[in-house]
Amino acid sequence: MLPPRRVTNAELAAELAGRGIETSDEWIVARTGIHARHFAAPDVCASDLAAQAARHALEAAGRRADEIDLIIVATSTPDMVFPSTACIVQQKLGVQGSAAFDLQAVCSGFVYGLTVADSMIRSGAATRALVIGAEVFSRILDFNDRGTCVLFGDGAGAVVLEASEVPGILATDLHADGRHVDILCVPGTVSGGKVIGDPLLKMDGQAVFKLAVGVLESAARTVLAKAGRHDADIDWLIPHQANIRIMQGTARKLKLPLEKLVVTVDEHGNTSAASIPLALDTAVRSGRIRAGDTLMLEGVGGGFTWGAVLLDF
Ligand code: ACO
Repeated sequence: MLPPRRVTNAELAAELAGRGIETSDEWIVARTGIHARHFAAPDVCASDLAAQAARHALEAAGRRADEIDLIIVATSTPDMVFPSTACIVQQKLGVQGSAAFDLQAVCSGFVYGLTVADSMIRSGAATRALVIGAEVFSRILDFNDRGTCVLFGDGAGAVVLEASEVPGILATDLHADGRHVDILCVPGTVSGGKVIGDPLLKMDGQAVFKLAVGVLESAARTVLAKAGRHDADIDWLIPHQANIRIMQGTARKLKLPLEKLVVTVDEHGNTSAASIPLALDTAVRSGRIRAGDTLMLEGVGGGFTWGAVLLDF
């Protein structure tokens, strides 16, 4: 689910020029592969996008909201300090009683969320889960920093996960390395009724780039090994949509032809925890991904966090 306002690179460049910040469509496309992103209206929250994505997922799965007993919302841009965006989504879906919580793993949030939901279903703690990635990153962008504000967008995606005799999720692998907290962060917080520190996104792009390329390959190799599968078994690679160069680099390392790479970063920008479910949704609804295909989902983001989920769709 993308908010309706689509902002092209040229439009963003013109807006930034008004602030004395210079950028261009050529620079953004060449360095990132991004052509456009969507920005939510000022009164639209992560829970609004999440609830709409959840309704679409429920409809696609042929399920009602009252059949869900677990709601996980992966987000770094929650509506409030508390309660969780997941509780607000539950309210917007008009149901009550299910477990509902937010999961904070920045751009790895959706693969973290899928892994938690999968584990809870396997253990019997839940029977049917809504896993949602939802972000309004436009709220935390510094529009005076051309190195970051051109990269991100808003959106939400969701899936319904339930127990089945047929796999399903084949293997998962999650990691974090807190030594890299500073390379991608929003360091501000709320204290004593004030915002303390800077509440806008900071990123060391080159450090993120180098780390991302390495960990995405190792997480992919780990889930393939756990599932007893091989590179050639992957029908579709759906990595976190941050930068086309990182994504193509990962595909090459896995010896996958670029036709097997699902790309939405060109039209969505980086939507953090929403990027993988949005890419999955786009590829399923366009008819590219079909029942029985093997999918490799890969997340990487602030923390530093990363992980992969291998599944038969
Ligand atoms: N327009 C024009 N010029 C720019 C812009 C811009 N929007 N942004 C930076 N520049 C300039 C810089 O000022 C610099 O100029 P200088 O050489 O005169 O100092 C020059 O471009 C090169 O800057 P670099 O930062 O070295 O550019 P780089 O090639 O590393 O590309 C980028 C930057 C695109 C951010 C890249 O490092 C990258 O993609 N990193 C990974 C980022 C990422 O994936 N983040 C998200 C992952 S996790 C998550 O999703 C939360």
